[in-house]
Amino acid sequence: MHFYYKVDELYCENVPIRKIVEEFQTPIYIYSKAQVIENFNLLKESLRGHKILYALKANSNPEILKILKDLGAGADTVSAGEIYIALKSGFKPSDISFAGVGKYDEEIKFAIENDVFSLNVENEEEIYIIAKLAENLNKKVRLLIRINPDIDARTHPYISTGIKTSKFGINPDEAIDVFKKAGKMPWIEVIGIHTHIGSQITDVEPFIETAKFILRYIEKLEKEGIKISHIDFGGGIGVKYKNALKYEKLPLENDEDRELNLNEFSKEVLPLLESLGCEIMFEPGRFIIANAGILVGKVLYKKKNRDKNFIITDIAMTELIRPVLYGAYHQIVPVEIKSTEIETADIVGPVCETSDFIAKDRKINKVSRGDYLAVLTSGAYGFVASSNYNSRLRPAEILIDGENYYLIRSRETFSDLLSKTILAKK
Ligand code: LLP
Repeated sequence: MHFYYKVDELYCENVPIRKIVEEFQTPIYIYSKAQVIENFNLLKESLRGHKILYALKANSNPEILKILKDLGAGADTVSAGEIYIALKSGFKPSDISFAGVGKYDEEIKFAIENDVFSLNVENEEEIYIIAKLAENLNKKVRLLIRINPDIDARTHPYISTGIKTSKFGINPDEAIDVFKKAGKMPWIEVIGIHTHIGSQITDVEPFIETAKFILRYIEKLEKEGIKISHIDFGGGIGVKYKNALKYEKLPLENDEDRELNLNEFSKEVLPLLESLGCEIMFEPGRFIIANAGILVGKVLYKKKNRDKNFIITDIAMTELIRPVLYGAYHQIVPVEIKSTEIETADIVGPVCETSDFIAKDRKINKVSRGDYLAVLTSGAYGFVASSNYNSRLRPAEILIDGENYYLIRSRETFSDLLSKTILAKK
């Protein structure tokens, strides 16, 4: 971990977090470059060098993207906006894939015009639209067809995407016909199959099941005379949120959460996929960036409502929506440990909603007004899902590299809040 304590003070690489928050204020996202690099390299090794398309949706700050591009990652995008950011961050079009259950015509056009490597399609109707637009633009388009294998990823229902009741992918039986039809279209080249069964998956079994499904399915396609050359196995590798940081003065968290065992994944999933002789791609987001980022805020007040303690901070659901949206757990630690006394409190933000909390009934070292708190493992699906609700300003982002640090997104200002509004009449 590149976030660690040195004499009760939280550091990222060689920089004390306190120095950053004193200079740039809170709430603020802070990322470790070394951790991003370490995560990527570990994954690349575990995936035996197969292609990694980083899922921009997890965190699309261009500086983070540049690090990953320089390490050899491609980009998995789900909107024209993400394609735009990927291109601006230096990804080659041939390293970009474009997925999504509801692509607009304008987005499809944008993807084709910019020569992205492939489009991952999720319904038959979409293929006709793509074919028409490809013909108009006089460009042949490579497609992967996303199959819904009806496999339960055993994760939170909101991020489980491979079961038959979800909106994602095409029913495998119907997809055979879709492969056949698309195979006859002059402007379309179907090169592969795509699956993504969910996110924050910590059991290897659903992945094994999916790989076996792909094996059987490709056999079936071959019997029908359909040959493919690419498999995109999606993302979903689960990380550890509890006890992300251990230190003798921190309360130990009840350790029921797990991370995916990457060794098992390499040993049990890869051989199945590799046996097919196709090019294999993965689309991880969270694994690469989650533990490389923290969100730091300040204690504004402490209060007690009858028996319940509240620590009111400047971190709200507007900065990190995961706890309220998925009941997600993030370890929260003081930037400076001033007390070994542990208290139990709800850690909440200033937004006018009861659902505005970062943690419920959390055991935490005693803190008081003005102390800083770090919400760990916030690098993925943190800043990207932030909002201006309650007219709050989106936070700044900092990248730390050794003893250097860089502001990679400035805090919004009041004028940003009104920059797009227009007075109808003067
Ligand atoms: N590929 C596809 C098609 C996806 O839908 C996703 C995530 C990924 C790749 C990357 O998955 P990852 O490796 O990051 O698990 N906001 C939620 C997570 C939403 C995931 C959406 N799709 C959260 O905060 O947990």
